[in-house]
Amino acid sequence: MVKAYVKTFGCQMNEHDSERMRGLLHKVGYTLTPDEAEADFILINTCSIREKAEQKAFSHLGRLKLRKAKKPGLRIGVCGCIAQREGERIIRRAPHVDLVFGTKNIHRLPQLIEKMIKTKRRVIEIYDDRERWQQFGCEIERDNPIRAWVTIMQGCNNYCTYCVVPYVRGSEWSRPAQEILAEIRDLAANGYKEVTLLGHNVNSYGRGLDQEINFPALLRAIDQIEGIERIRFTTSHPKDFSEELVEAIADCPKVCEHIHLPFQSGSDKILKSMNRNYTAAEYIDKVNMLRAKIPQAGITSDVIVGFPTEEEADFQQTLRLIEEVQFEGLFTFLYSRRPQTAAGNFAQQVPNSIKQKRFEILLEIQNRISSERNESLVGTQQEVLIEEGKALDGDGTSGREYLLRGRTRLNKIVEFTGPPDQIGKLRQVKITKANRFNLEGIMLP
Ligand code: SAH
Ligand code: SF4
Ligand code: F3S
Repeated sequence: MVKAYVKTFGCQMNEHDSERMRGLLHKVGYTLTPDEAEADFILINTCSIREKAEQKAFSHLGRLKLRKAKKPGLRIGVCGCIAQREGERIIRRAPHVDLVFGTKNIHRLPQLIEKMIKTKRRVIEIYDDRERWQQFGCEIERDNPIRAWVTIMQGCNNYCTYCVVPYVRGSEWSRPAQEILAEIRDLAANGYKEVTLLGHNVNSYGRGLDQEINFPALLRAIDQIEGIERIRFTTSHPKDFSEELVEAIADCPKVCEHIHLPFQSGSDKILKSMNRNYTAAEYIDKVNMLRAKIPQAGITSDVIVGFPTEEEADFQQTLRLIEEVQFEGLFTFLYSRRPQTAAGNFAQQVPNSIKQKRFEILLEIQNRISSERNESLVGTQQEVLIEEGKALDGDGTSGREYLLRGRTRLNKIVEFTGPPDQIGKLRQVKITKANRFNLEGIMLP
């Protein structure tokens, strides 16, 4: 019995690709193990978004060299975004790697493994854009029995000047709606309660499809599927975030009013240089439009600190935007220079020490805001989808008191006690305590 282990770096798309690859490994008869040490085949799904993400993948690969020296039968594969960009150069850096394939070759995993075993040689296969449609239709081995990811589109045409995604994921392409709906109906039939629709820019869903459909229409169709209780989506690009979408969110009871809307910078000069196609004022207008229609909406965002030419005044504008919008949470990134991207060639890069200092200031402000947002929920009643539980008596024999864990519609984690048969259900919970990263509460009858 061959044991396989898949290690994932990167975003939700990569996590979901790993679920797909686990499904394919299962199909070829491999047993999946959560323990890398006992695996005979290790697959590293890599991320290229920042230099640090690449370093992590390569240092992991470095450790595997030692493992392989002790276990000569071990085979190692590298896939994902670094593999798509670097191809066979990966072998030059890590000669102990046996298999390299890109983000468009995932469906080819069974054949590639067969070739690797038969020829006893290294196998490298990187496709360009043409083969993308084949990614779908294979068995997916999902990590979570209640919440599922569903790809609605792939690639990105936006070419933000800092970003490597268009180079590693190719051009934007929407998946036919009937395929998406069929997958979600199937998930509902198998007991899944929540779906998260994935795409690098979900708001432009439908462009290029034969069928007349856009993202709000897709949400409305998914909202009709019986058995699914919640719908989330990520990521939204502010330039395409429309009133029509906000109306669909407001009209569809299952669509959670939590929007991840990356703003990247509060300075118009920097936004222009990033090729984001909106100004800070336009971003704030969209936030106000959303809150006017859905006052309870929660917004999270991404921001980059230290983009080339960012000066103190630009950074202050970013801080002002954060204070004005009051995000539920913020992913803060230090700008990282990426090969191929336009900004990688910009002359005026910001020194590391300044980037780091700005990063810390920003984090402190957002930590305060996140805590305040959570505090404001104490005493309120929230709908929670219960995802998991842990027996409080240690072995679970009493069957009653469990520490249950779930998420509110705004995606905040809440913990409370209750019986385990509530897992997978929607319940009302009264919030009694707020911490920075989670909430505590009491389940209401
Ligand atoms: N498709 C999504 C997410 C892209 S990657 C979107 O368009 O929003 C997630 C986040 O990583 C981005 O929103 C951006 O804030 C950050 N990021 C991307 N490239 C980066 C770089 N070179 N340096 C620092 N952060 C980066
Ligand atoms: Fe990258 Fe911009 Fe595309 Fe997002 S929209 S994936 S940040 S190029
Ligand atoms: Fe995602 Fe990283 Fe690739 S963020 S798309 S895994 S470069």
